[in-house]
Amino acid sequence: MSTPTQRIPRLHLFPRDTSVNAAGHLTIGGCDAYDLAKEYGTPLYVFDENTLRHQCREFLERFGSRYPDTVVCYAAKAFLNRALAKLIMDQGLGLDVVSIGEFAIARSVGFPPERVYFHGNNKLPEELAQAIDWDIGRVVVDSIHELRLLDHLARKRNTTQDILLRLTPNVDPHTHEFTTTGVLDSKFGFPMSTGQAEEALEEAMTLAGVNLLGLHFHLGSPIPDTQPFESALRVLIEFAHDMKHKCDFDMVELSVGGGFPVAYSVADSYPQMGVYADAIITTLTNLLLKQSLMPPRLTIEPGRAIVARSGVALYTVGATKEIPGVRKFVCIDGGMSDNIRPPLYGAKYEALVTNRAAEPDVHTVTVAGKLCESGDILIRDIQLPRVAPGDVLAVPTSGAYCIPMSSNYNATPRPAIVFVDRGRARIVRRRETLEDLYRLDIP
Ligand SMILES: Cc1ncc(COP(=O)(O)O)c(C=O)c1O
Repeated sequence: MSTPTQRIPRLHLFPRDTSVNAAGHLTIGGCDAYDLAKEYGTPLYVFDENTLRHQCREFLERFGSRYPDTVVCYAAKAFLNRALAKLIMDQGLGLDVVSIGEFAIARSVGFPPERVYFHGNNKLPEELAQAIDWDIGRVVVDSIHELRLLDHLARKRNTTQDILLRLTPNVDPHTHEFTTTGVLDSKFGFPMSTGQAEEALEEAMTLAGVNLLGLHFHLGSPIPDTQPFESALRVLIEFAHDMKHKCDFDMVELSVGGGFPVAYSVADSYPQMGVYADAIITTLTNLLLKQSLMPPRLTIEPGRAIVARSGVALYTVGATKEIPGVRKFVCIDGGMSDNIRPPLYGAKYEALVTNRAAEPDVHTVTVAGKLCESGDILIRDIQLPRVAPGDVLAVPTSGAYCIPMSSNYNATPRPAIVFVDRGRARIVRRRETLEDLYRLDIP
């Protein structure tokens, strides 16, 4: 008999249909998580394909049912490999890339280039040239330097590149300063309040090598409520209206970026996706009506909200250390080399012990990584059942911004990645070996 899962705290943070089997082990995508750890080794990143597909559908349906001309572009920076690129392609989403490297991964599985949006504050000349040669759908232009360079490269090739202009509407999304992008003092985009956005738009309209289709903003991540989206839309639509009258600019496309939040801990509570869709689309349609503008194609760029909950990191417990009256440390075989978010952003995570998933919590511990930094603490003060060396910890919501920010710090090999789907597991990225660590060195 399996354990009633409603009695297990934190389970709702794990992928859909995560459960506990008769052995008292956590199951993810129908696979015993403890067995996965034994078979593939740890640290191991496990992604549930069913949750990934569900999240893609959520965005397509929540936005598409309210505003049919919506394009959902998955922001690859949250996590990308070939298996995920294929899944995103098969679900009919577009792709937001920030380097030609991300596009090369997607292209290697046949991702249609016309569905790709290329972002970044300092795209290199060779990246822009490659993007044109690979027929990338849109370049989201971030600076005057880039605008002129792209125009030059496109004209040299006797072609015209479709573009959007990334604008900074100076709206604070109330998120961590490292992930705030839509304010005036940001390295991204054309500031609107200084007149630079208007100058860029006017210039873009005169250039033969680019075809200006519309505007883009991305405010930051994660955005805890809908109000920043609404404020930014007011600024953008007024701008589009002014530009229509001043220089006959037609906004055929509008991207509102990403930043949709995800619950990482039991304390987190955010509005549902439908609330964001409602707020964005109601505000947009009202403003368009008020300013007598034609409805543009709407693009959204969720990254975190597609992959975070699908991913679970598995770690094996090694040393434990108790400082009487101070703290109990439980040390794991990974840490900031595979998940830098706690030291970088103060990100909070939860955990369960896969092989003791049905046991009650008995003590407060701090989960420490194995990297040679005191700041390498994955979870501070979490209630867990008794834990012993060899137990396997499962950390939910590890699907976004962990693997892509991973490093070889302390010459640590990067983890393997496994996709699970209804009881079947397949390895989609092998663990790095010791040889991989010096493969590129020339002695
Ligand atoms: C331009 C742009 N779009 C989309 C995203 C995705 O944000 P999130 O993963 O929070 O949805 C980012 C994240 O930095 C971004 O810079």
